[in-house]
Amino acid sequence: MLNQKKILLGVSGGIAVYKASALASKLTQLGAEVKVLMTENAAEFVTPLTFQALTRNPVYTDTFDEKNPKKIAHIDLADWADIAIIAPATANIISKLAHGQADDMLSTTMLATQADVYIAPAMNVHMYEHPAVIQNMKQLENWGYHFIEPGDGYLACGYVGRGRLEEPAEIISAIDRHQQKDLDLQGKKILISAGPTKEMIDPVRFFSNRSSGKMGFALAEAAAERGAEVTLVTGPVSIDIRHPLIRRIDVVSAQEMYDAMNEQFAGKDIVIKAAAVADYRPKEVHTSKMKKKDGDDVIALERTEDILKSLGERKENQFLVGFAAETDSPIEYGLGKLKKKNLDAIVVNDVSRAGAGFEGDTNIATYINKLGSQIDLQQATKKQIAMQLFDCILRDMKDDPI
Ligand code: PMT
Repeated sequence: MLNQKKILLGVSGGIAVYKASALASKLTQLGAEVKVLMTENAAEFVTPLTFQALTRNPVYTDTFDEKNPKKIAHIDLADWADIAIIAPATANIISKLAHGQADDMLSTTMLATQADVYIAPAMNVHMYEHPAVIQNMKQLENWGYHFIEPGDGYLACGYVGRGRLEEPAEIISAIDRHQQKDLDLQGKKILISAGPTKEMIDPVRFFSNRSSGKMGFALAEAAAERGAEVTLVTGPVSIDIRHPLIRRIDVVSAQEMYDAMNEQFAGKDIVIKAAAVADYRPKEVHTSKMKKKDGDDVIALERTEDILKSLGERKENQFLVGFAAETDSPIEYGLGKLKKKNLDAIVVNDVSRAGAGFEGDTNIATYINKLGSQIDLQQATKKQIAMQLFDCILRDMKDDPI
């Protein structure tokens, strides 16, 4: 996949710069055209001449070193690239990108590029675990930057832990894998539900739940990035999403979600219900604000429609996936829902576990298909979980069950 690709390799200052020279060499050997940008600090560790010799291209370190008067170098390079890689990426360059700071050749070019950007961090283990670094990485991930996790092991600072720049061969294969599956959902029409529903009691009060919509939105984003045409039916959430392949339909109540999902169902290839739908709603919705009374009160509830079950009953060729938010015996209950609702697969999240379920940026899940095969997905960002779920779904759809 990297043959003939135009690759910008951004090198920031850390001892792992020596590994970046091996990366530049391997990429060039694979047939990629590589242009290297170095920070001043990176040039303290390995000279630009090393990268120039390995890539047979000039190396850029200074924003004002305009090699061609007809062009502005950092914009020209940003537009030229198919792919950008920052390896090693220090806490400093990660912070600059997360804050839109552009004060040297590397940061200005990375801010200007529209290419896919892969970031391979390398730093001391305590720096890597610092909340500021974690927050900056999350921010960048939300904006679509791809991270290649550092490895565990002996660090140049003397500590042992996470923070070693991933090996060049691994960086290349992670990018290769990502580029290959880039558009593997192209041509597919996907319907996704996200968020909570709100069931009104009166004009100012409602029943709802803790769903933030993050899991469903992550699925929509992952599917669109892989080329699918996505319809996202969402309950009330405060997330913004803008992607030309995502059509968003906002709903409030379980009934509105039922109507929208059923209306959109025909002609879809994959349908995923990540929404947390209310099982009950007030039997009576008061048209004016209910007055306080002395003593207790009782609100009578009635069942809402089970949207997923209704879709399972009218399913034709759609690959139908449910989610199950469980606290006790999650797999057992998940399997029960898979059968009862006629699903092709269910994603079970044990919402009692730290790092899983409602509101947070990460999830931990088990994907179970209708044959009963299970894949455990370890704690990862909701976007990463979404990507892994589409891998599972695609394999099951290709009659190559997991
Ligand atoms: O939004 P986040 O904060 O990111 O949190 C993500 C999540 C925890 C909400 C998500 O990962 C999740 O588990 N969603 C399903 C939650 C849920 O309602 O599970 P359930 O076990 O009650 O329902 C099982 C399935 O039936 C779900 O696919 C649900 O959408 C569907 N259902 C439920 C009730 C109903 N009336 N109609 C339905 O379609």
